[in-house]
Amino acid sequence: MPNQKSNGNPDFAIVIMAAGKGTRLKSSRAKVLHEIAGQPLLAHVIKAAQQIVPAGHIFVIVGHQAENVRAAVAPMGVEFVLQAEQRGTGHAIMCAREQVASYQNILVLSGDVPLIRPETIARLRDFHLGKKAAMTILTAAPTDPFGYGRVIRAGSSDRVKAIVEQKALSKAQQKEREINSGIYAFATKPLFANIDRLSTDNAHHELYLTDMAALLVKSKATVVALKASDAAEVLGANTLAELSSLDATMRARKCSDLMAAGVSIYRPETCLIDNDVQIGPDTILEPFVQILGQTRIGSGCRIRSFTIISDSQIADNVLFRPGCIVDRSTIAAGAQLGPYAHLRPGSEIGEGAHVGNFVETKKTRMGRGAKANHLSYLGDSDIGAGVNVGAGTITCNYDGVNKHMTVIEEGAFIGSDSTLVAPVRIGKGAYVGAGSTITKNVPADALALGRSPQITKDGWARDRRERQAKAKAGK
Ligand code: UD1
Ligand code: CA
Repeated sequence: MPNQKSNGNPDFAIVIMAAGKGTRLKSSRAKVLHEIAGQPLLAHVIKAAQQIVPAGHIFVIVGHQAENVRAAVAPMGVEFVLQAEQRGTGHAIMCAREQVASYQNILVLSGDVPLIRPETIARLRDFHLGKKAAMTILTAAPTDPFGYGRVIRAGSSDRVKAIVEQKALSKAQQKEREINSGIYAFATKPLFANIDRLSTDNAHHELYLTDMAALLVKSKATVVALKASDAAEVLGANTLAELSSLDATMRARKCSDLMAAGVSIYRPETCLIDNDVQIGPDTILEPFVQILGQTRIGSGCRIRSFTIISDSQIADNVLFRPGCIVDRSTIAAGAQLGPYAHLRPGSEIGEGAHVGNFVETKKTRMGRGAKANHLSYLGDSDIGAGVNVGAGTITCNYDGVNKHMTVIEEGAFIGSDSTLVAPVRIGKGAYVGAGSTITKNVPADALALGRSPQITKDGWARDRRERQAKAKAGK
């Protein structure tokens, strides 16, 4: 953490430019709200910034769809600055002048350059301070520099002469491969002493922050460049294709981190794992698994192919057979699910419980060791420990207006193909005969049969066959 100044501010504030429209995405959604690895671009940038300075010293410039952008990241506790009209990146920084002029330096990040690592921002900060520079530009040399501003150095030194935008490049400059990442450090004094000299004399008639390089050089201030070791970190997302490739990079990073921490991922390139997901060691992910949102998974689990888990808490040693869908649910240790189990929000599966083939649960608690192995719908129910729910059991939880609870107490046995019309309670240890429709509470240890008695007519089938055979022969 940088030193605290007497006015209470650290040496650095971070400004994140996020007011632009993102015309090249051809999307109605603001660019910085497009997602990679399950989170808006801007959220990734803020997260990296928060590793450098506390959220109260991070200023996000909003403009296009300002309200949506604010709402999406407000919980992160950052400050916002409105750039009501988007007149360019230079203008964006002008808008933040009042908020940041009291800091000695600012780090400027772009809301659409989301793969930046905190370590790289810290390196930029330290390099900038070490060089006592007025402006330090983070650069990179990607294989294809097209579309980026190019950094023109003074010979082979750290010193920079200018940044030239793609459209203004001369023939010779088009060969330059060192790009401007859109990430900078500035000493605030020279920045704000010169920023009003920016002009709109360029292809987009905007105030370019990049022109500060030449302006500062002209005023005899020091402008230097620091090349990022990994060009992938500073790639921008200006088109949906670029966005998709950033998403792939970020998810690959996530998989590598998990594998380094002891998680086996058999075909990482087929899995989608969101950034905030946590997975314990010795858990195995088979190909084509998705783990999304705020999901936490313990250790020793096995997640077989085509399972999708979102916003859920999974304890240790849970087995997901293929094709399970789990949303906003909790699963205790040693439980077994699927194939094709569907846990809808509010499902709480107890230790060692089984939720099997084509079983759907919603707002349902299953106690320790309870089993529903085949073809059931269990909604709004509380199922005790050790209960056995037979194949095809349905809780009728909805009367067309309201939802009602089904309670099945500990150790009860529900015969196959039963319908339990809620509200209804099956007492502890009770039996429900297969094929029953249960509309009244069943006391503990009772047997309930809710089906019509069976009629058996001896010889009926044989007699019928004979009658039919005679009728046919008589024709
Ligand atoms: C910018 C740089 C370019 C660099 C590239 C790196 C300029 C003029 N060019 O180009 O040299 O190689 O980034 O990715 O800066 N924004 C605002 N207000 C505005 C305009 C933009 O907040 O008025 C924000 C955008 O939301 C975006 C960022 O600034 O997050 C960069 O703007 P963008 O239009 O994407 O600039 P590039 O053309 O990519
Ligand atoms: Ca950009």
